[in-house]
Amino acid sequence: MRKKIVAGNWKMNVDLNESIDLIESIKKIYDPSDDVEVCIAPSFPFLKESSKLCQGEKIKVLAQNVNDNLKGAFTGEVSIDMLKSINVDGVILGHSERREHFNEDDDLLLRKLKVSLENNIKVYFCIGESFVDREKNNHFEKVKNQLDKTVFKIDSIDPENLVIAYEPIWAIGTGLTASPEQAQEVHKYIRNLLRERYGKKISDKTSIIYGGSVKPNSARDIFEKEDVDGGLIGGASLSPQDFIDIVRSI
Ligand code: 13P
Repeated sequence: MRKKIVAGNWKMNVDLNESIDLIESIKKIYDPSDDVEVCIAPSFPFLKESSKLCQGEKIKVLAQNVNDNLKGAFTGEVSIDMLKSINVDGVILGHSERREHFNEDDDLLLRKLKVSLENNIKVYFCIGESFVDREKNNHFEKVKNQLDKTVFKIDSIDPENLVIAYEPIWAIGTGLTASPEQAQEVHKYIRNLLRERYGKKISDKTSIIYGGSVKPNSARDIFEKEDVDGGLIGGASLSPQDFIDIVRSI
């Protein structure tokens, strides 16, 4: 009923040859009959080559960002149409690294989200609390606030085109994975918020994936939780074997 998804976010870590090697290695060990949506997110310059290599392989290619304008004088930026012209399947928005290092606030993220959905590119939208929020027990409030200012400003959503990624910032790249129980309680909370906003049918169908130091040895316990529909994987997605082991943990 809900799509299971495992997406590898390669961040700014691999060059062209390394991207090609990663894809070829994933293709060798990945069984496309697995009932999981497998995605990779290479850097902009390698998206075209990546999408060519993934054609017909049941591996979706995502961009790590996109501009909120459709066209124009925005030096250094990349538009949705540009991504679509090279068969990119979706875009990650709202990642905490973009919020923190590139000052992407909720207003800008709402514009990016709107323009992406209006132009039919699937969005993997990230939310999550900081270490301080978690310590103060503010994580539910923080996540609700992020959703209120972005996703929930959209009147209707299509679960085929929008995935929520819960990525607690304190777990990203730190080796501190949220426990399966911690992940489940926030995912369940998000699903309840989705139900209040859009109704049960939509909330039941919207995939909510977890990100933050997921490794092959921690994936299964997290993915087993009822409201966890997969993962957004950083470091471990740079090893084809680890990435595929995580895919198989679903
Ligand atoms: P890590 O898996 O390296 O913690 O990164 C998670 C992440 O930020 C995925 O977008």
